[in-house]
Amino acid sequence: MGDITTLAVDAIVNAANEALLGGRGVDGAIHLAAGSGLLDECRGLGGCDTGEAKPTGGHDLLAQWVVHTVGPMWSGGGHGEAGLLASCYRRSLEVAVGLGARSVAFPAISTGAYGYPKAAAARIAVDTVRAFGHDHPSGIDEVVLVAFADDDLDRYQALLAETDASGPARWSSPGSCAIIATPVERLSAATAPRRPTGTTQGGNRWRSPSPSTERSVPLMSRPGRCSCTTYATSWR
Ligand code: APR
Repeated sequence: MGDITTLAVDAIVNAANEALLGGRGVDGAIHLAAGSGLLDECRGLGGCDTGEAKPTGGHDLLAQWVVHTVGPMWSGGGHGEAGLLASCYRRSLEVAVGLGARSVAFPAISTGAYGYPKAAAARIAVDTVRAFGHDHPSGIDEVVLVAFADDDLDRYQALLAETDASGPARWSSPGSCAIIATPVERLSAATAPRRPTGTTQGGNRWRSPSPSTERSVPLMSRPGRCSCTTYATSWR
């Protein structure tokens, strides 16, 4: 299974709830891996509206930041769910790029407890990420859609193989840019770089963003480490 908490990217996205005070699923996993400092920081955010996104530090995570977003609960599709889910991906990327993040990883927002049909959600994720990359070609180097299960990966791969208005997803050489992650094995702390840490004026720990090209543990498939093909695309 892909575990977003183990990825050495600049920012990971959390599928949270409007209270931003933790939960189960990926929310619970991120809070568990980040440590109690994350909840302390979240308490100061005053919650988050559905479709919106708010950042915190990564605390004990490998990622420098966590972008908390709140996906829509599935109510049959007639209550603006698709627009709200697209907004989660778009706003999370806007917030992450605003922080200086060059690599961002997403879970499959709303497809767990919130019951969003996985195929429809995957289509929204891929379309929104690709649109953002085309609109902001120099804004970000790497977007990872973490496949928590094999069926998630199959879905993302099929969608990425399709072409969109700008033609097929442009492939870059492995290691330079990834738009989909395989069910990555857990990157142990020993193999993933611990970036220099510091503190912000708010006392929250931060790490200097590491451009994806410097990552010593590339997200792309490494022999024996990733079980499936990793897709790469380049916005430029
Ligand atoms: N890494 C990557 N993906 C994960 C992980 C993980 N460690 N754990 C779970 N997932 C996947 C799930 O398989 C699912 O596809 O994340 C997706 C989102 O599922 P949820 O975590 O249930 O999130 P969501 O459906 O958006 O519901 C949010 O659940 O945990 C609570 O506080 C949260 O109230 C909020 C609600």
